[in-house]
Amino acid sequence: MKLLVTGAAGFIGSNFIHFLLAARPDSRIVGLDKLTYAGNLENLEGLEGRGRFSFVRGDIADREALDALFAERDFDAVVNFAAETHVDRSIQDPGVFLQTNVLGTQTLLDACRAHWQRGGRWAAGKRFVQISTDEVYGSLGPGEQAFREQDPLRPRNPYAASKAAADLLVAASCTTHGLPACTTRCSNNYGPYQLPEKLIPLMIRNALRHEPLPVYGDGRQVRDWLHVEDHCRAIALVLQKGRPGEVYHVGGRGERENIEVVEMLLAILARETGDAGIGEPLIRHVTDRPGHDRRYAMDASRIQRELGWQAQIDFEEGLARTVRWYLDHGDWIERVVSGEYLRFYELNYAGR
Ligand code: NAD
Ligand code: TYD
Repeated sequence: MKLLVTGAAGFIGSNFIHFLLAARPDSRIVGLDKLTYAGNLENLEGLEGRGRFSFVRGDIADREALDALFAERDFDAVVNFAAETHVDRSIQDPGVFLQTNVLGTQTLLDACRAHWQRGGRWAAGKRFVQISTDEVYGSLGPGEQAFREQDPLRPRNPYAASKAAADLLVAASCTTHGLPACTTRCSNNYGPYQLPEKLIPLMIRNALRHEPLPVYGDGRQVRDWLHVEDHCRAIALVLQKGRPGEVYHVGGRGERENIEVVEMLLAILARETGDAGIGEPLIRHVTDRPGHDRRYAMDASRIQRELGWQAQIDFEEGLARTVRWYLDHGDWIERVVSGEYLRFYELNYAGR
């Protein structure tokens, strides 16, 4: 299986590449990434040179570059992780979210069609997987039923709106052109290689430095935490067996209030480090995010029924594993915060 994985140097993309190379010995992967501030090539260090993975710097909104790549390598499948992903940034500056998440996704769809469709017929065995999010459904109240695939899309922030637009464009390509695509919508991921602008790695780093832990508003917002390894297993299954045109939810069965997650992190960190300075006095309730979605929860019964997937990593165990990863990779996180990671490409790839 020859795969194009976009957003390869990001958090989930890089985890997926590690996962798939190990799980599918027949896979050969090209990782494409624009290397925005969120792309960290160190996440893929050591994979090249073993013959099954290569990295290309490029933009999913650059049709010429995509055409050249498709012409050179005959991909069987595309998995699209590439996106601008941080809600807070989308509130400040939504333009780049539309450029990548909406126009970029359409450009990628167009490239697939140009290279996979001949005389109105699709080449056999092709597959496109769009990686989407529970945020496209908007916000749930405390007692409300978890989101189901047929629920209406009601995005409430620019990031979510751009992802919903991308999902609709993928659906339109399926309907109009017969594109063999599946869309996965997952809940909040956690695990190795996540940028410390997101809740869990940010709180770990701040706690270790005895810096304040900024909890938005009352901290009672609920997210359904999914370990990235469980997520990768779900995507691999959808890639292999998902029904074209279908949407699959991937949920963690791990609903927790933010404040509870922060308290759990503090307890694990205090235990692991024995540092008496790590504790609840570090928590600061700060101004809430505008339009902050109160609760997300995913009903993942379709993927369980059809593909036999369910989340296996219990949140407490997964969180403890994640904390240990960040403790063991303090140098990784500091190179991210200092910006040194951005030089990795120039030092190792530029001029090749
Ligand atoms: P991330 O921000 O860590 O990584 C995104 C990657 O995309 C980066 O490497 C970045 O350089 C790359 N990129 C950005 N613009 C690009 C462009 N125009 N062309 C090529 N590459 C580009 O994000 P992530 O957390 O790994 O998320 C991956 C996907 O999963 C996204 O589509 C996101 O919407 C979705 N998702 C993530 C979560 C989560 O909890 N992290 C939850 C639901 C859905
Ligand atoms: P985040 O990791 O940004 O993911 P998302 O907004 O996609 O859910 O945030 C997870 C939750 O944590 C969300 O409810 C916002 C909250 N949060 C804080 O309370 N403080 C922070 O510093 C951050 C980054 C997030």
